[in-house]
Amino acid sequence: MKHSCSSNIISHKSKSYHVILLVSLILILLFKRFIYNGDIRLLARSNVLFRPIGIIEEADDEDRVKLPPKGCDIFTGNWVFDNKTHPLYKEDECEFLSQQVTCIRNGRQDSLYQSWRWQPRDCSLPKFKPRLMLEKLRGKRVMFVGDSLNRNQWESMVCLLQSSISPGKKSLKMSDSLVIFTIEEYNTTVEFYWAPFLVESNSDNPWRHTIKDRIIMPESIKNGGNDWKGVDYLIFNTYIWWMNTGYIKVLRGLFNADPIEYDEIQRPVAFRKVLKTWAKWIEENVDPKFTSVYFMSMSPLHIKSSDWNNSDGIRCAQETLPVTNVFKPPNVGTDHRLFRMVANVTESMKVPVFFLDITTLSEYRKDAHASVYTTRQGKLMTPEQQADPATYADCIHWCLPGLPDTWNELLFAHIILHS
Ligand SMILES: *[C@@H]1O[C@H](CO)[C@@H](O)[C@H](O)[C@H]1NC(C)=O
Ligand SMILES: *[C@@H]1O[C@H](CO)[C@@H](O)[C@H](O)[C@H]1NC(C)=O
Ligand SMILES: *[C@@H]1O[C@H](CO)[C@@H](O)[C@H](O)[C@H]1NC(C)=O
Ligand SMILES: *[C@@H]1O[C@H](CO)[C@@H](O)[C@H](O)[C@H]1NC(C)=O
Repeated sequence: MKHSCSSNIISHKSKSYHVILLVSLILILLFKRFIYNGDIRLLARSNVLFRPIGIIEEADDEDRVKLPPKGCDIFTGNWVFDNKTHPLYKEDECEFLSQQVTCIRNGRQDSLYQSWRWQPRDCSLPKFKPRLMLEKLRGKRVMFVGDSLNRNQWESMVCLLQSSISPGKKSLKMSDSLVIFTIEEYNTTVEFYWAPFLVESNSDNPWRHTIKDRIIMPESIKNGGNDWKGVDYLIFNTYIWWMNTGYIKVLRGLFNADPIEYDEIQRPVAFRKVLKTWAKWIEENVDPKFTSVYFMSMSPLHIKSSDWNNSDGIRCAQETLPVTNVFKPPNVGTDHRLFRMVANVTESMKVPVFFLDITTLSEYRKDAHASVYTTRQGKLMTPEQQADPATYADCIHWCLPGLPDTWNELLFAHIILHS
């Protein structure tokens, strides 16, 4: 695996070879720099410039990314099968993956879903460079805040980065609403904070929460958002928990009242209130000089195979290929009203918030869900459940490696481009 072991190669080489390699590397770097003067590119801090020696081309590659021009719309494009560059890591090489996402280990037979690359129409995404990203994140805290889809993306980010970190210098710690992945060598943490509605709700316990009786407090952020303060990269999302019903229960009074009183409010109305609360928190607590704020758009579901004209399908369970050869993604029931609201709110804020559209590109990916190769209520699905996808297939979450890696490629491009 190119991306995972190049840092170890050096120790096996003889010294003289080493020197020759260094000299040619410097020459090549200078030469390339001269030729590609017009490229937008980025040299990482000079102290890592010579670290990834092995194959010259790769070392060269490792320190420079060709970024898309700032105006390029990286969210419009199509999926290209590319098993040379994807997946970006192997399922069994990332010890940090949870059982929820290790689809192959859980029995999935097909693996093409791991090898699709997102190709924007008018430019190309840079290759994800773990070391470059780690340099960017040196001494920083990254925090994903949101629901289980954001956790899906957080797990992907952990795996994308961990291959470049020595064993023993990385660890996972869980506490309450927070999971922290610590990267000692870089003094970096990549964290996930469970807040499925962003605002306070009776679903804020990551392990004990009710799906049926979820009630939110649209004007309140848990703990005043203290847990998010001082983070360098905040990446928010919220969607899936809104989708069960058209109406959302909004608390009247307090959670410890007996009986609990609430109003039922239309989804978009409640969502707007929540966004307002969230935006106010950002404006009052984030200094854009130190903190970058991202909002990931909605991760779509693939529940009805008739949405992509497969009359023999069972939800997403039998899909092994993305939807291709269409100009628009299939209509899979995404609530685009919420999308437009986030776009609108984030656009008009004083603190810049980057709204990343993962919705459109993910709508094509009926093949990438965890389906029956996942857990249910914390346990691997039984053979009986696996045999009954019509009831049990999870067409919400995604296998890893897989689609959320692409979300992180977009995030990577953005972080490098805007720093
Ligand atoms: C990539 O895909 C091609 C075409 O399906 C196949 O022939 C080849 O063996 C694959 N390579 C890898 C590394 O999986
Ligand atoms: C590590 O990073 C934190 C911020 O996340 C910073 O406060 C601290 O000073 C850093 N420590 C070192 C040794 O660089
Ligand atoms: C499904 O069929 C309709 C009608 O023929 C067509 O317009 C649509 O593009 C098809 N969708 C997909 C995802 O193939
Ligand atoms: C977008 O925001 C403007 C004001 O900021 C408002 O007038 C408009 O109705 C909003 N549109 C949507 C779709 O929320």
